[in-house]
Amino acid sequence: MYVFLLHLIESENQWLKIYFPMVFIFPPLLSKKLQPLWLLLVMYFCAFAVASSPNHDAAAASPEIASVASEANALLKWKASLDNHSQASLSSWTGNNPCNWLGISCDDTSSVSTINLTRAGLRGMLHSLNFSLLPNILTLNMSYNTLSGSIPPQIGSLSNLSTLDLSTNKLSGSIPNTIGNLSKLKYLNLSANGLSGSIPNEVGNLLSLLTFDIYTNNLSGSIPPSLGNLPRLESIHLFSNKLSGPIPASLGNLSRLTMLSLSSNQLTGSIPPHIGNLSNAKVICFIGNELSGEIPIEMEKLTGLECLQLADNNFIGQIPQNICLGGNMKFFTAGNNNFTGPIPESLKNCHSLKRLRLQQNHLTGDITNFFDVLPNLNYIDLSENNFHGNLSPRWGKFRSLTSLMIANNKLSGVIPPELGGAAQLQVLDLSSNHLTGSIPQDLCNLTLLFDLSISNNNLSGNVPMEIESLHELKYLELGSNNLTGSIRKQLGTLHNLLKMNLSQNKFEGSIPFELGNLQYLSSLDLSENMLSGTLPPTLGEIKGLETLNLSHNSLSGGLSSLNDMRSLTSFDISYNQFEGPVPNNQIFHNVTIEALRNNKGLCGNVTGLEPCPTFSGKYHNNMKRRVLIAVLPLTVAILMLALFVLGVFYHLCRTSTEEQDETTILRSSSVFPIWDFGGKITFENIIEGTEYFDDKHLIGVGGQGCVYKATLPTGEVVAVKKLHSVSNGEIPNMKAFKSEIQTLTEIRHRNIVKLFGFCSHSQYSFLVCEFLEKGDLNKILKNDEQAIAFDWKKRVNVVKGVADALCYMHHDCSPPIVHRDISSKNVLLDSEYVAHVSDFGTAKFLNHNSSNWTSFAGTFGYAAPG
Ligand SMILES: *[C@@H]1O[C@H](CO)[C@@H](O)[C@H](O)[C@H]1NC(C)=O
Ligand SMILES: *[C@@H]1O[C@H](CO)[C@@H](O)[C@H](O)[C@H]1NC(C)=O
Ligand SMILES: *[C@@H]1O[C@H](CO)[C@@H](O)[C@H](O)[C@H]1NC(C)=O
Ligand SMILES: *[C@@H]1O[C@H](CO)[C@@H](O)[C@H](O)[C@H]1NC(C)=O
Ligand SMILES: *[C@@H]1O[C@H](CO)[C@@H](O)[C@H](O)[C@H]1NC(C)=O
Repeated sequence: MYVFLLHLIESENQWLKIYFPMVFIFPPLLSKKLQPLWLLLVMYFCAFAVASSPNHDAAAASPEIASVASEANALLKWKASLDNHSQASLSSWTGNNPCNWLGISCDDTSSVSTINLTRAGLRGMLHSLNFSLLPNILTLNMSYNTLSGSIPPQIGSLSNLSTLDLSTNKLSGSIPNTIGNLSKLKYLNLSANGLSGSIPNEVGNLLSLLTFDIYTNNLSGSIPPSLGNLPRLESIHLFSNKLSGPIPASLGNLSRLTMLSLSSNQLTGSIPPHIGNLSNAKVICFIGNELSGEIPIEMEKLTGLECLQLADNNFIGQIPQNICLGGNMKFFTAGNNNFTGPIPESLKNCHSLKRLRLQQNHLTGDITNFFDVLPNLNYIDLSENNFHGNLSPRWGKFRSLTSLMIANNKLSGVIPPELGGAAQLQVLDLSSNHLTGSIPQDLCNLTLLFDLSISNNNLSGNVPMEIESLHELKYLELGSNNLTGSIRKQLGTLHNLLKMNLSQNKFEGSIPFELGNLQYLSSLDLSENMLSGTLPPTLGEIKGLETLNLSHNSLSGGLSSLNDMRSLTSFDISYNQFEGPVPNNQIFHNVTIEALRNNKGLCGNVTGLEPCPTFSGKYHNNMKRRVLIAVLPLTVAILMLALFVLGVFYHLCRTSTEEQDETTILRSSSVFPIWDFGGKITFENIIEGTEYFDDKHLIGVGGQGCVYKATLPTGEVVAVKKLHSVSNGEIPNMKAFKSEIQTLTEIRHRNIVKLFGFCSHSQYSFLVCEFLEKGDLNKILKNDEQAIAFDWKKRVNVVKGVADALCYMHHDCSPPIVHRDISSKNVLLDSEYVAHVSDFGTAKFLNHNSSNWTSFAGTFGYAAPG
């Protein structure tokens, strides 16, 4: 009974609403005896009320309740067709009263009037939604979901619909022509989908339509002229489709239209003069079509226009002279057409103007003092026209100007220093004109500038030193001028630079090493200047450099600074004096001879270059050794003995001559070339490479001395072991020093550190060895991260390598060599984790018959015991 009562109270029956509450209101006021009587009385009236109502069978016959139930069913059926995730986001959709479900609102009659499921994460199709069961919806908004499939034709049954927004989904197929049945539709938005086919002519029946947004789809065919029938239409957005054919003249009848955007389509023909009747138009965009012909003079009637975009078409003739007659024009673009004649006169003092793009036309005239000071002008591009005259000092008074582009014209005269007053300027492009004089220092006041392009003029003098105040600079284009002097080291402070082009000038001197600070630089062009000297080693610190052109200069030395440049894609060092090996990294493997030709002595693995001389036939020796061990194990002992005997004689002979050489060297106390590298490494190379043994190149400290990393101009990185210097120029451990040299120079083995040479000088004595990237084993084992990367397989290989090295020293060398200090500090690893035994300072030649092998050879504090 209570359920029945509840049901009643929900019903629409007016009488019930009056009588039923009496059940609860009066009983407390009545005596207990009278209460049942009261209840009976009320029930009687209730029954009367139900009986007198036209739909007394409330549960089944009320059309409202029936429709609520069927609306709920239609929605639930659709929900079931969506994917699980969507169903989860519609979790409130249960029961049979949709009015309080997520995104649903009902009208007074409890019928669904709004479905607003924008950004609800829905994925599925619209087909299972039975629109005919939802006759009362006014708003259907399912924008920003992932609905796919086509728009069902049944959508035409939503005869009360006023807003349809299915924008930003993945809908495909064509727009059903039943859309024309939505006679009450005001807002139509199907933009940002994948709809194709043509726009149905039936849209001409949408007589209530205010906005028509179908931009960014794949719609083709022509714009239906019937659109011109919609008297209330205020905005049309059809941009970014594939619409073709002409702009219908009928659009001129849309007297309420304020926005017409047809950009980025394939429309042809000329602009119908009727467009001039769109007296309320504020925005008209025709960018990026194939429109042609002249701009109809009727367009001048559109005095309310704030934005007219004609760019990227094939228009010819003059730009209408009175385009800013109404004084409202803010954005006018006519770039990339075939316009001729002068800039429209009305733009001269168009104070509302914010953006003006007239680039890539055939416009003419003297622009020296054409523009008054336009306080709102923010962006102006007049590039690629035939303008002449000077650059007016007045430009410096344009307070809002951020971009001034007049490239590729016939401007002459100087860059006025007053230009430095346009404090908001970010882009200044005056390239390819006939400007003369120097770069005014005042230009460096433009601290917001990020693009300074003045290449291809006749500018002379040097770059002002004050250029360092342009911290925001990303693009510096100074190429093809007559600039002189040295490359300013201040350029190295412009940390944001991405591109620097100083090519085809008369810059001289060397490349300042400060350029190495330009961490973000991706393109550096210094070609065709008169630069000399070697490449600063810091150049290699520009890790992201992609394009490097140093061609046609007089640069010399090696290319080692380029060793670490892993991101280079374009590279040209032709016509210089470079020599030595071409860096052995991936990039240089693909380099062609064109990029390297006409240098002094480059070598390397590039077709057209000589291969670089190798250091030894160590690989060959190894192979030979293996063959011997494998094929003739029995003869090894005999051979060893023979070799040993020979070796003893050989050694005895040679030590004497060598010792003689060394003493000469040491006595003369001057600088000696280091052998290997074809004798090309000099004392100066080492001093330069380590910047006088600067601590920043220090990579290790040993008992004997410090180890530095040095980059040689020949393109090699080497380790330099400097013996502890002493004031009197004497080397206390000269004996060990010589021992190390003697030992190392005789060893050529894959697992033994290569010695390239040594140098003895009154100030410095040092060894030059192979540089090994990973450093010593001790260091790696102490570093958790590196120790993990150094897995067991690698460790076993290292042990094998050390064993190989020792085996070689003990058995294959003649006389045998005992290292006597094998410790983790003396095992160095290269990038492939191959072990190289180093530090033979304590090693000593050991004759088989000698008994003194335990004697201590050096004066070191770190020799391993025993
Ligand atoms: C659309 O209206 C036409 C009449 O103009 C009618 O024949 C058609 O059935 C309607 N379509 C829908 C889906 O309501
Ligand atoms: C679609 O059009 C409606 C009505 O003009 C508008 O309110 C809505 O912002 C539009 N949606 C998009 C994505 O442009
Ligand atoms: C503009 O509307 C008028 C009637 O309002 C009509 O006669 C004319 O044909 C329409 N113009 C175009 C170009 O459709
Ligand atoms: C470059 O400048 C020098 C003087 O610095 C001048 O003699 C020469 O004519 C100039 N060249 C060009 C092409 O302007
Ligand atoms: C390097 O510059 C020269 C002269 O400026 C030019 O001829 C050459 O094509 C450039 N090289 C590359 C790879 O761009």
